[in-house]
Amino acid sequence: MRVLAICGSTRTNSYNRRLLRLVADAARSAGATVDEVDLRAHAIPFYDGDLEEATGLPVEARWLREQIEASDALLLATPEYNGSLPAVLKNAIDWVSRPIGGGRPGGSFRGRPVLVMSASPGASGGAGALAHLDTLMRRLGANVLETRISLPGVADALDGELSAELKAQVGALGRAVAGASQNA
Ligand SMILES: Cc1cc2nc3c(=O)[nH]c(=O)nc-3n(C[C@H](O)[C@H](O)[C@H](O)COP(=O)(O)O)c2cc1C
Repeated sequence: MRVLAICGSTRTNSYNRRLLRLVADAARSAGATVDEVDLRAHAIPFYDGDLEEATGLPVEARWLREQIEASDALLLATPEYNGSLPAVLKNAIDWVSRPIGGGRPGGSFRGRPVLVMSASPGASGGAGALAHLDTLMRRLGANVLETRISLPGVADALDGELSAELKAQVGALGRAVAGASQNA
């Protein structure tokens, strides 16, 4: 029951990472092992077909793919940048999506349970980015869970005491991803 948590924000005080960690803790309480990937620490070059042809996946992308393959489920948190995913997250997904051994595109995402989440200081809760991430993961053949969160007003929601409603949501998200990793 290993869950891999990836945040699409590299910002030190990222709200999405804070929310991701709350859900990761809830998943641990539900019995899962959760490891977090730091996309800043494992900076992956921009996708380049010539680079791929010359040397295959860059070492950082290969490392990420191995981490994903060693997991039973993924927890993905994305900020919303202009209604969509940040380039750093899309780039990582693009590299990992490359076909393995002549297989179908989708790479390591195919068949893997994925819980998607987004948080934003604005009123949308990053719903646009969440919808794009959902579409992207489905296209790559991932088993995207229906349980998810799009959290508006995240500064108020996370700075200070968490509301009872948010605590309950976080618990449900943690149980959902832990359960999905168990059944994978
Ligand atoms: C380039 C850029 C575009 C953004 N576009 C949106 C947007 O479309 N919708 C939104 O709600 N917030 C938008 N924001 C604000 C982010 O939601 C906000 O910076 C948030 O805190 C980023 O997530 P993080 O705290 O996890 O780093 C944007 C921020 C940046 C830097």
